[in-house]
Amino acid sequence: EFVVRLAKRGIELVVPSDKAIIDVLREAGIEIKTSCEQGVCGTCLTPVIEGEPEHNDLYLTDDEREAGRLMTPCVSRSKSKLLVLDM
Ligand code: FES
Repeated sequence: EFVVRLAKRGIELVVPSDKAIIDVLREAGIEIKTSCEQGVCGTCLTPVIEGEPEHNDLYLTDDEREAGRLMTPCVSRSKSKLLVLDM
């Protein structure tokens, strides 16, 4: 598991290993725009402020993946214990 901090809202949520970030957001009442929810469309693309995303999508380019500035919370997770998202 890891912690997602939503920088604009000033809240932190724990993401257990069996749940996607978007599931945890929804449970907390936070709506995020999604479409495919399979890491393909890029609708849920979210800027990363801090932490190292674990990219499980098929949307980002290799360069974008390596830069680690964007992630798809529908399928991607975090390699670091804390992931700070710009939302
Ligand atoms: Fe399509 Fe996340 S909803 S990539």
